[in-house]
Amino acid sequence: MAKFIIQGRKPLKGEIEVSGSKNAALKIFPVALLTKETIRVFNVPEIEDVFRAQEILVGLGHEVKKVNKGVFDIKFKNQKGFELPADLVNKFRASVMFVGPMLVAFGKVIFPHPGGCVIGAGIRPIDLFLDAFQRMGAKVKIKDNYYELTAKKLKGANIFFSKISVTASESLITTACLAQGETTLKNCAMEPEIVSLVEYLNGCGAKITGAGTPTIKIKGIKRLRGGEYKIIPDRIEAGTFAILAAASNSGEVLIKNCNPNHLEALWTLFDKIGVNYILTKNSIKILPSKKILSCDAATHEYPGFTTDLQSPYTVLMTQAHGSSLIHETIYDRRLLFTDILTQMGANIIMADPHRVVVNGPTKLYGRKLVSPDLRAGAALIIASLLAYGKTEIDNIYQIDRGYAKLDERLRELGADIKRI
Ligand code: UD1
Repeated sequence: MAKFIIQGRKPLKGEIEVSGSKNAALKIFPVALLTKETIRVFNVPEIEDVFRAQEILVGLGHEVKKVNKGVFDIKFKNQKGFELPADLVNKFRASVMFVGPMLVAFGKVIFPHPGGCVIGAGIRPIDLFLDAFQRMGAKVKIKDNYYELTAKKLKGANIFFSKISVTASESLITTACLAQGETTLKNCAMEPEIVSLVEYLNGCGAKITGAGTPTIKIKGIKRLRGGEYKIIPDRIEAGTFAILAAASNSGEVLIKNCNPNHLEALWTLFDKIGVNYILTKNSIKILPSKKILSCDAATHEYPGFTTDLQSPYTVLMTQAHGSSLIHETIYDRRLLFTDILTQMGANIIMADPHRVVVNGPTKLYGRKLVSPDLRAGAALIIASLLAYGKTEIDNIYQIDRGYAKLDERLRELGADIKRI
């Protein structure tokens, strides 16, 4: 199993490029089930979750061809079965995005409960998806840990999501495109990846309004065309690099190919804690700061402070002067990784599974550790780069799932990180 070996406290400076968004890419591959025409996707991040999504498509009878670096053509060849394979579905939660399009295209889909990061109590539920498909006329059977959904023709419906969910919003938007009649989705998530997905679907002939607001309307059409889709920059990766540069505070770091408008909540926090930065339309420059101060942060659905940046921000607070309360409002296991930070020397008190108090600044020290999940893994890389001595990080598949060749890109900034 591959590991990262990191020698901390090297000055970080220079330029780093942001990849295409993982969370946008994973939603585009299932759309290919809804058209017989070719889809060409640009700026695809070459990460493990994307490879697994491509393998699912190939298994269902599609051809996925790499045309160039980050450019893939997807084309329907012939349908092979109704089942999503457990070994791939277990690896990432966004595999659930295939369910709706398979129901539309094949009238039937069988799948196990999707896997992914263990950041909620027990398994991460899919009740919102199942309720919505049922409202659209699907029959749901659950047998031996497998779901079987069938529908001759899905019908438009009025759906209120009892919780705000990014993937459930995206799944139902995609599914409703070819349903009979109109679908109204209420209490939708408003993430930029949803707006981007809808722009693409509308470009292929879909009739969707309201993306980026809580109410989205979809008028069913007969067929979708193929087309070209350029994946938006990964805002989580951009934010992770910005936090790393701020925490290291050792030189100028230019983060290129990103959209700083997608990270307004982070800039507000940076203003409060004294990070020196300059934004342009597509770049972020982090400059050395005099002193980093502490500031409380609570995660929130977009446009609030994203839960995916909570773990890197918590590491930043270990280097800030004062105490900060970090409140994780969305997932109840996403603060558990702070135990590892404490073992590295951080002063963190857990009030309850949703809240920790970080007292800073503290020195961090390298040690042997295991990456618990994708975003905590990235946060632990930041901690290791700040730490005195050597850190060994195991289970880096969890980091490779979402960050393409992170070690190579960090070395460009001067980091001492090796993959063995
Ligand atoms: C997406 C992102 C992930 C991010 C998260 C929150 C992708 C691939 N992943 O995950 O990076 O951390 O949004 O911004 O886009 N819920 C239910 N029932 C459901 C579905 C969700 O109760 O059927 C709950 C979840 O347990 C959680 C909340 O809704 O408490 C939000 O989850 P959700 O938005 O669905 O997360 P993902 O879309 O999986």
